[in-house]
Amino acid sequence: MEHIGGMLKRALTATAIIAIAPAFPVHAQDFSGAGAVRAGRELAITLCSECHVVVPRQFTRRRIGGPPDFVDIANEASTTAMALSAFLRSPHPTMPNLVLSDRQSNDAIAYILSLKRNNGH
Ligand code: HEC
Repeated sequence: MEHIGGMLKRALTATAIIAIAPAFPVHAQDFSGAGAVRAGRELAITLCSECHVVVPRQFTRRRIGGPPDFVDIANEASTTAMALSAFLRSPHPTMPNLVLSDRQSNDAIAYILSLKRNNGH
């Protein structure tokens, strides 16, 4: 019994270490997990919606002249997990103190990428 408890504890510790692993290298990350997308959506609504339209456009009007809508960011050809990660690690325009943890930026990236249209262009 003690033996099994020890194994369980080790397994849990390993899980905890994986959970706090840093965001780089980006290609080793899973940006598509449903949990990350959901958490990223919450985060975007809380932290980003003051300036950005963060939900798919059928729920909103397009804002003119402000920062880009997340749908538009997602559908830029240049938008990749790598590019978003680099952007979110540098001071945000007009909001230099917007600092996200690795976990938060991964979630935000998962959410933004989930807004990409899958219609082949
Ligand atoms: C105080 C306002 C403000 C808040 C809050 C804000 N942003 Fe921004 N964001 C901007 C502005 C302004 C730009 C446009 C910068 C530019 O085009 O040079 C921008 C640009 C971006 C871009 C780059 C868009 C592109 O053209 O590639 C990303 C990605 C982004 N924001 C993500 C986020 C995320 C994620 C959050 C929330 C965690 C957030 N922003 C919160 C103002 C804000």
